[in-house]
Amino acid sequence: MAEHVRVMLSEEAVDKRIQQIGEQISKDYEGKQVHLVCVLKGGSFFMCELAKRITIPVSLDFMSVSSYGSSTKSSGVVKIIKDLDEPLKDKEVIVIEDIVDSGRTLSYLLEILQSRGPKSLKLCTLLDKPERRVTDVTVDYTGFEIPDEFVVGYGLDYNQRYRNLPYIGVVEFS
Ligand code: IMP
Ligand code: MG
Repeated sequence: MAEHVRVMLSEEAVDKRIQQIGEQISKDYEGKQVHLVCVLKGGSFFMCELAKRITIPVSLDFMSVSSYGSSTKSSGVVKIIKDLDEPLKDKEVIVIEDIVDSGRTLSYLLEILQSRGPKSLKLCTLLDKPERRVTDVTVDYTGFEIPDEFVVGYGLDYNQRYRNLPYIGVVEFS
């Protein structure tokens, strides 16, 4: 079967939106330093592009989690594969995610991070599929709300491929 990627959000549209979020964060945290926590691997492309557009002081850290359960349905119990290098105590933390789907992974992860005593903890996601939400997760910064379709690109994968696409697309089979 041939695979084809249909563009949902162009590179220009994504870049423009990231610029706006960067400006918003720079304004909201004026006079402070933000600590961006990237959830690997998906959040990495978004975090790099966003960090470049934030004009206040920024520090970065990375973590990798996997959710127990089948590959298509996350259980919400998160296993930390790679933990952060630095403590979160008294930091202005913003978690950077590629997509919030059911919200299970995030609600569990945010609980873990909250217990580490950050000064503040917010969530920034490039994409949000609100229709799919099963838990209460407050998203503070959203790039785009999208319909319930499986998307790739800008860090998001299908069987580990397509993360490097500079746009958001939908994989179609023919
Ligand atoms: P959930 O919010 O706990 O259901 O899981 C979110 C995770 O599922 C994301 O961080 C992605 O890794 C993955 N995911 C959800 N929807 C998509 C999609 O449309 N494309 C690629 N990965 C997705
Ligand atoms: Mg993710």
